[in-house]
Amino acid sequence: MAKFLDKISERAKKLNKTIALPESDDIRTLQAAAKILERGIANIVLVGDEADIKALAGDLDISGAKIVNPKTYEKKDEYIQAFYELRKHKGVTLESAAEIMSDYVYFAVMMAKLGEADGVVSGANHSSSDTLRPAVQIVKTAPGAALASAFFIIAVPDCEYGSNGTFLFADSGMVEMPSVEDVANIAVSSAKTFELLVQDVPKVAMLSYSTKGSAKSPLTAATIAATKRAQELAPDVAIDGELQVDAAIVPKVAASKAPGSPVAGKANVFIFPDLNCGNIAYKIAQRLAKAEAYGPITQGLAKPINDLSRGCSDEDIVGAVAITCVQAAAQKK
Ligand code: COA
Repeated sequence: MAKFLDKISERAKKLNKTIALPESDDIRTLQAAAKILERGIANIVLVGDEADIKALAGDLDISGAKIVNPKTYEKKDEYIQAFYELRKHKGVTLESAAEIMSDYVYFAVMMAKLGEADGVVSGANHSSSDTLRPAVQIVKTAPGAALASAFFIIAVPDCEYGSNGTFLFADSGMVEMPSVEDVANIAVSSAKTFELLVQDVPKVAMLSYSTKGSAKSPLTAATIAATKRAQELAPDVAIDGELQVDAAIVPKVAASKAPGSPVAGKANVFIFPDLNCGNIAYKIAQRLAKAEAYGPITQGLAKPINDLSRGCSDEDIVGAVAITCVQAAAQKK
């Protein structure tokens, strides 16, 4: 994983992207900002009060960061108006828009929407919902994406499966009870994301407790339907299901359970039927297989807005910022 993140950081350095960090009251954010600026990974906007940020930073060198205070920013009224226009059909008034725009996470996401930042990283001291709700309300989905979802890059040490032990797991962090159409869209987005971040050809396994009809139930039928739909949406991508995990990654098992499959035995993208499966699976890989888990990373948004775990380190924030830069550059193409 260190290798994966090193490569992503090197790619980010060439992109000159600007990432907004709204959690400027958290020392890990400031430590990360100092490292990002020193390494030249991204330009940084810290959202917050300048005096408070400088007091918390102490000796950290964050002089290269731009500091924007939502309360005094010269474009404050433009931001309030923009949020009001976006959400007035949901009962938002100018008064409530002003209050919402004083929230640092909402403000940072609006910076991305209005093109003053290329992406946002938040979640060190906010819940996933507090980071993701502003994202789905303000920047919304990217053209061609039916929904936003969240994935983890999982790098298993000394592992011959997947892409040299590297996998993408989705959805493992956002969409709780996806419909068949949602699962199909998550599969298609995940294939593109895998190609972008891991730079290998995606082989997408639609996972189940059954392989190719070995069991029959409404659950297996849903995965079969999602597989069919994903194949229709992305006919050029190797997508197959329904597959059990062993059939998906172990060539010998694949040969007996799913002969002729373009994916079985070589899968590197795992698509789960719901958030329970996706979240449980990544934590098992992380804790029992001692895999590095990077995420949750969002995909399918018009601008990359990425969530952090509340137990994250400053280096985790640096990594998330680098990934956000690479995602932002891909969206501009
Ligand atoms: N993709 C795109 N848009 C989405 C979306 C998705 N996955 N989920 C919700 N939306 C849209 C809704 O359609 C709605 O649009 P509108 O208000 O313009 O009509 C808007 O976002 C807000 O929806 P709302 O109902 O207020 O939010 P929600 O309760 O559906 O929550 C999340 C959306 C993202 C906040 C929710 O899915 C969530 O909390 N996910 C995180 C789960 C979690 O805790 N993960 C931690 C494990 S690591």
